[in-house]
Amino acid sequence: PETITVQELANRMAERAPNVIKALMKMGVMATINQPIDADTAELVVEEFGHEVKRVSEADVLEGLGGSEDKPEDMVSRPPVVTVMGHVDHGKTSLLDALRATDVVAGEAGGITQHIGAYQVQMASGDKITFIDTPGHEAFTAMRSRGAKVTDIVVLVVAADDGIMPQTVEAIRHARAAEVPVVVAINKMDKPGADPNRVRQELLNHELVVEEMGGDVLTVEVSAKQRLNLEKLEEAILLQAEIQDLKANPEREAEGTVIEAKMEKGRGSVATVLIRRGTLKVGDIFVAGTEWGRVRAMIDDRGNRIEEAGPAYPVEILGFQGTPQAGDDFVVVDDEAKAREVAGYRQRKEREALAVKSARGTMEQMFAKI
Ligand code: GTP
Ligand code: MG
Repeated sequence: PETITVQELANRMAERAPNVIKALMKMGVMATINQPIDADTAELVVEEFGHEVKRVSEADVLEGLGGSEDKPEDMVSRPPVVTVMGHVDHGKTSLLDALRATDVVAGEAGGITQHIGAYQVQMASGDKITFIDTPGHEAFTAMRSRGAKVTDIVVLVVAADDGIMPQTVEAIRHARAAEVPVVVAINKMDKPGADPNRVRQELLNHELVVEEMGGDVLTVEVSAKQRLNLEKLEEAILLQAEIQDLKANPEREAEGTVIEAKMEKGRGSVATVLIRRGTLKVGDIFVAGTEWGRVRAMIDDRGNRIEEAGPAYPVEILGFQGTPQAGDDFVVVDDEAKAREVAGYRQRKEREALAVKSARGTMEQMFAKI
């Protein structure tokens, strides 16, 4: 059932909370300031104060906020989005760096590693892959718990001289829970103790049956250090992507997911957003979680200012009114009024949820003392 806290109700009527509490008392309802009351009671209070009742349902506020279906004929192939996971020190960062260096467009300007949370590599064949550089499993889990499904493929990095370790198992579990297929990069093949077959054998214990053993999990023996077989790994990723037939409609208002966000001195709130579908343009007005803004500038993973960003493209965005959270949904809306309405509504919801939580906490503390 819909509820509203006494404080929030008072705020919206521009009345003082103690007066609202008094009005409730007259109606026989004893409530504290942070207590949620049901919508019907709230309506009576509003009438008591002589205000007009205007119930805003979630559906009204969120109306037209992304999510609409695309026509099949508008769907166009898009690059796969890949997350690299694995045990500590097995070479995730080294591999991401090495893969990044395989980009053919970076060219002379290459070498600059403007660090944003994701980047796209274009291969000699023209095929593209987007890599997300999540700092760890926590980020992946946090994003997933917020309902964001951004990853199409997990590249599981396993050091050939070390084999399956606890965090490898954890990564496998995460990938499985998210129903994301795994491509295994058996890394550090240059090391004397490298034993890729042992890795394949161990994977079997975790229900990952590799191709060589009759399964469908692709493995590629690589060395991030010697840049060995990186193209092979990319081909395996593309093969896996082909099976999924990844498509998006680029000709619509953009929707995406916040990969990371922070407050920067002199730049304000900046966020890296991965576009899921549509095309984001400078000047677009958007909502991201409880925040909104207007795209003031977009910067790609090479540090270039760009005007537009399409599906599976990661961009850094300037123009947020506040800092969103990783995993937040990013949706372009028609105008500022809509953006403010949605962000405001979500902020109120969040405040209410927090108030309920803290009220409950206080109650529990009280009972603990009894
Ligand atoms: P965390 O982020 O701490 O979990 O580690 P990581 O998985 O990102 O590993 P990282 O890339 O930092 O590599 C860990 C160590 O392994 C570093 O000393 C790397 O130089 C080394 N390393 C990574 N890849 C290779 C490889 O292919 N061969 C060899 N010999 N060493 C490697
Ligand atoms: Mg690392």
